[in-house]
Amino acid sequence: MIKSIGIALAGFGTVGAGVFDYLQHQSDLLAERSGFRFDVRSIVVRDLKKNRDVAPPSSLFTTSWRDLLKDPEIKIIVELLGGTTDAFDLIKAAIESGRMVVTGNKALLAEHGQEIFALAKKHDVPIFYEAAVAGGIPIIQSLRDAFVGNRIESIHGILNGTSNYILSRMQEAGLDYKAALAEAAELGYAEADPTFDVNGGDAAHKAIILAALAYGFWVKLEAIRVDGIEAVTAADIFFARNLGYNIKLLATIRSAADDSIEVTVAPTLISKNSVLASVNGVFNAIAVKGDLVGDALFYGRGAGRKPTASSVIGDLVEAAFALKSEKIHGNGRDKGKINFSFHSLYGTSRAAADICSCYYLRLTVEDQPGVLGKIATLLGDAEIGIASAIQPESLEGSEASLVFMTHQASYGMISLALEKIQKLSCVKSKPVVFNVEAV
Ligand code: HSE
Repeated sequence: MIKSIGIALAGFGTVGAGVFDYLQHQSDLLAERSGFRFDVRSIVVRDLKKNRDVAPPSSLFTTSWRDLLKDPEIKIIVELLGGTTDAFDLIKAAIESGRMVVTGNKALLAEHGQEIFALAKKHDVPIFYEAAVAGGIPIIQSLRDAFVGNRIESIHGILNGTSNYILSRMQEAGLDYKAALAEAAELGYAEADPTFDVNGGDAAHKAIILAALAYGFWVKLEAIRVDGIEAVTAADIFFARNLGYNIKLLATIRSAADDSIEVTVAPTLISKNSVLASVNGVFNAIAVKGDLVGDALFYGRGAGRKPTASSVIGDLVEAAFALKSEKIHGNGRDKGKINFSFHSLYGTSRAAADICSCYYLRLTVEDQPGVLGKIATLLGDAEIGIASAIQPESLEGSEASLVFMTHQASYGMISLALEKIQKLSCVKSKPVVFNVEAV
């Protein structure tokens, strides 16, 4: 027998419309497979008059999320409002009312995950959030459930499709950053305001969620190094390629020997022979290394109407099964199944300044005798080893590029050395520093 469940969509942008459209037109397959049909009883929008390509009956629309809580037949709320204000209030109110929540809100979970899951635990209400990281890729369920027996050694993720598209076009077509960004905007990949795509903020939110699933606690956004791709130039792509690397905006998450957790989001040189180096365009990929599973790789579309709706619909079915189990077992759900497990196996997050990496440095300098020596001395004074150096012949003008590949050093040490280097009168612009990572 097929069971009908009342739901609400809070937010009706790209993903909300995709979910509604699917439920209207393709729900027979879902009903056959899952035993559930979802009845959208209310939709929260900001603007009632907006023209929409997916047009539900206007009687479903409301501008107030509070209305959802007045309808006892709404059992699951799909939060796609975005932001961290109304969405936060809605999720807290939904949990307190015993309703289940499906959300794609990475910023909210990254910034308030600790509080949200503490409340979820208090009320025994699970939260479903597959759509929050990497669109249609089932990485949340995999880390949380399939890999539950693993100690996760590391996670490397290409988590922002817009950045990856821009870097891929710079790489393949020789475009400069601005032209590649303009292309991404024209094709509708970049958000109307692409700030969080290109400054690493969006990838950082996703990295925090993955780190929480792997290590059982919520790393603070302020504590991690987040560098976006704005500083990547065609020259960097060229130098990296000649050295045998591609540049990716990479989230690197790992447990260190002392069980502290390292999370970094930065432009990163990875060997062009590595699998992640061939992840191009708007695609996302996540490489997980666990002590049991070894290496596992996830690849797919990290954004867009259908892929993200795919994750939301999967979560709706999970939520429906949780509701059914609650009915069968009567008095409450399985304790602790809130879809996030706090635990204390790992200590704290390591300060960004203490995280070690190899680095790619590019400096614009005066083309004068002694310049290379001065810079190498300052790196040496900071005990930063130079693995290789390139100074291409400068054919015109009085400035030259200097590129260094370094051995391992802490980010604090490299930053300090670069501060001193930048003060040299022969250094003409802010040094560029990207990570180099073996993946
Ligand atoms: N704008 C994001 C991206 C998708 O480009 O990957 C939503 O997080």
